[in-house]
Amino acid sequence: MSQSITLLRSLDRRRFLMGSAGVLAAGAAFRFPTPAIAQAAPLKVGFMLPYSGTFAKLGKFIDDGFRLYVEQQGGSLGGRPIQFFQVDDESKPEAGTDNMNRLVGREKVDVVVGTVHSGVAMAMVKVARDTNTMLIIPNAGVNEATGPLCAPNIFRTSFSNWQVCEPMGKVMFDAGHRNVVSITWRYAAGQQMVGAFAEGFIKAGGKVVEELALPFPEVEFQALITRIATLKPDAVFAFFAGGGAVKFVKDYAAAGLSKSIPLYGAGFLTDGTIPAQGEAANGIKTTLHYADNLDNAANKAFLTAFKTKTGQDGDIYAVQGFDAAALMAAGLSATKGDWAARTQVVAAMQAAKFDSPRGPLSFNKANNPVQNVYLREVRNGRNELVSVAGQAVNDPARGCRAPA
Ligand code: BEZ
Repeated sequence: MSQSITLLRSLDRRRFLMGSAGVLAAGAAFRFPTPAIAQAAPLKVGFMLPYSGTFAKLGKFIDDGFRLYVEQQGGSLGGRPIQFFQVDDESKPEAGTDNMNRLVGREKVDVVVGTVHSGVAMAMVKVARDTNTMLIIPNAGVNEATGPLCAPNIFRTSFSNWQVCEPMGKVMFDAGHRNVVSITWRYAAGQQMVGAFAEGFIKAGGKVVEELALPFPEVEFQALITRIATLKPDAVFAFFAGGGAVKFVKDYAAAGLSKSIPLYGAGFLTDGTIPAQGEAANGIKTTLHYADNLDNAANKAFLTAFKTKTGQDGDIYAVQGFDAAALMAAGLSATKGDWAARTQVVAAMQAAKFDSPRGPLSFNKANNPVQNVYLREVRNGRNELVSVAGQAVNDPARGCRAPA
């Protein structure tokens, strides 16, 4: 953990020194009033992400996506050079408060960007609220962050757990399924996602016959897959992501169930995982706020640039990181780089509207994205668009008293 900070600190030190040399020269010539000097200083961005464990690839892609946007702007946002700090949160909620305090208290970052895991995000939200630190959540969908715990200093560039799964209820009912089993990890994201799916499915007229779960991040699925075979539902709805999703999809196919009991899920089941899942992923239908082949200019440009930078195919995690930097740029541009002008920064971020690679993106009163949710199917080794399952889906932000 501290190793990755130290590692980055030495890399960043070079960048920092280069940045501060320019600042000092300007100061010595007495050309700028003090606020301009402050605005030319590097802005400290703290990444608190999983760089190890089952969500390691997700964290890396968010980091890469964010850096890609900054590089495209010439290394600065709104005129401010960016200095990066990293903490590997290992997707461990119990370490969340300490890791956050390390960035906020010790490194004194200006903004924290993180994280992937909903349980870790809950700890981060509490510290962000207590210390009034700007927090941009580039993945974790925990409903509370833009629900009862919403705050002007907390933004999300990803989704709420409710938002991406509720539309799947109607999709599966319309496909003719009536009795469905859900399966997930037993933690906030899993419980909220299967809960949102059930809400939509029951509303449409369907029945969830059994909710199966195992502790995060366990991957011993066999007993639960056997239970599915015994129950013989019309279909299965699943939430897993990262390494766990790879194993679940392969185990499900190896048990021979994919032929008789169609597998559906939240899009994380197959996003960024298809190369490792191979043929086992074919035909899986999911809902998410992204599809690989979205036919818009921003997506095409993003996928080309991401491939050039990393040699890999972009996915939703990279998009969410990219958009986190774009959101910060909106705040910084409005204040000519003055991140301390908090009221104006927040107002500009709340009003931001982008042509994101995912399609049109804006923010609701709780600082959660308003965005399309797509039905996708795995074909040709990618998540291909089937239809728009929900246009401009807005999370209900239950319990949020408007943060602005
Ligand atoms: C979550 O914990 O919120 C989460 C993790 C991975 C993918 C999507 C959501």
